[in-house]
Amino acid sequence: MDKRIGFIGVGNMGSAIIQGLIESNMTNEKQIYGFDYNSTILKEKALQFGFNIGKDNKNIIEQSDIVFLAIKPQVITEVLSEISDFAKPGQIFISMAAGISIEFIKYFFNFDPKIIRIMPNTPALIGEGMTGMATKSPVSYEETLFIKKLLSSFSIVEEVEENLLDAVTAISGSSPAYVDLFIESLADGGVLLGLPRDKSYIFATQAVIGAAKMILETGKHPGILKDMVCSPAGTTIAAVHQLEKHGFRNAIIEAMIAAEKRSKEMNNLFEK
Ligand SMILES: NC(=O)c1ccc[n+]([C@@H]2O[C@H](COP(=O)([O-])OP(=O)(O)OC[C@H]3O[C@@H](n4cnc5c(N)ncnc54)[C@H](OP(=O)(O)O)[C@@H]3O)[C@@H](O)[C@H]2O)c1
Repeated sequence: MDKRIGFIGVGNMGSAIIQGLIESNMTNEKQIYGFDYNSTILKEKALQFGFNIGKDNKNIIEQSDIVFLAIKPQVITEVLSEISDFAKPGQIFISMAAGISIEFIKYFFNFDPKIIRIMPNTPALIGEGMTGMATKSPVSYEETLFIKKLLSSFSIVEEVEENLLDAVTAISGSSPAYVDLFIESLADGGVLLGLPRDKSYIFATQAVIGAAKMILETGKHPGILKDMVCSPAGTTIAAVHQLEKHGFRNAIIEAMIAAEKRSKEMNNLFEK
């Protein structure tokens, strides 16, 4: 891969992607150019990964074939206004800003740019991410496949229609926080039942990893795996009964509806 890859923003997500690209040998550090307003983060990450530090955002555009916009939605307007005059039609821009549409980004350019929108999640930091991806013309089929391969260095990648990225935010962008809450609750329950706090976190976390891997590796429906653990009049079915009684499934679905709604609201906020 001989492309040069630029990063505007090397915070949590930007640096997670840089790490994935380098560790998977998809690129070497000398092909990566990064800039970030936060000079402490920029220096720290450049030292950690060995990428080239850009002079400013304009310099990143000049140096790169592919540009990741790894900045918060609140500053995307400012960044696009700053860089769009220096962009070239062959470049591919990858935005991960929640709630910012491809059409909104295109509006800043004086030609029809190649924009790809992604919604990654924080497990990308350890190469276990899940990324939703949407593309639009003039991005070609070959370019889409190429970017998918790049993104697969730190996550599983699924293509969706752009209007479903808000749902992707709800199901995988935000869900590491729901799972963290679940693990914390399991650990609290363990402590309540007498287990030491440190051991509680190990039991709870490994149970979640194991259950998730069982679904992926056996290909079995989660309902079947749940039934396998629930013996008649046993302990697990007693617990499942309480979860159903307290609306466990409904609480999760309602949480996802709220996340999707908020993502759509953010879109409206910026597009007005
Ligand atoms: N974290 C997640 O779970 C997650 C999941 C999916 C998608 N995303 C998306 O990923 C994007 C980045 O999120 P993040 O968590 O990586 O944010 P982050 O850690 O705050 O990183 C963004 C970096 O960009 C810098 N910055 C701000 N304005 C800039 C500008 N005009 N030019 C250059 N750099 C600038 C920030 O500096 P300052 O700190 O000085 O402002 C910060 O260091 C967001 O759009 C978010 O929606 C995040």
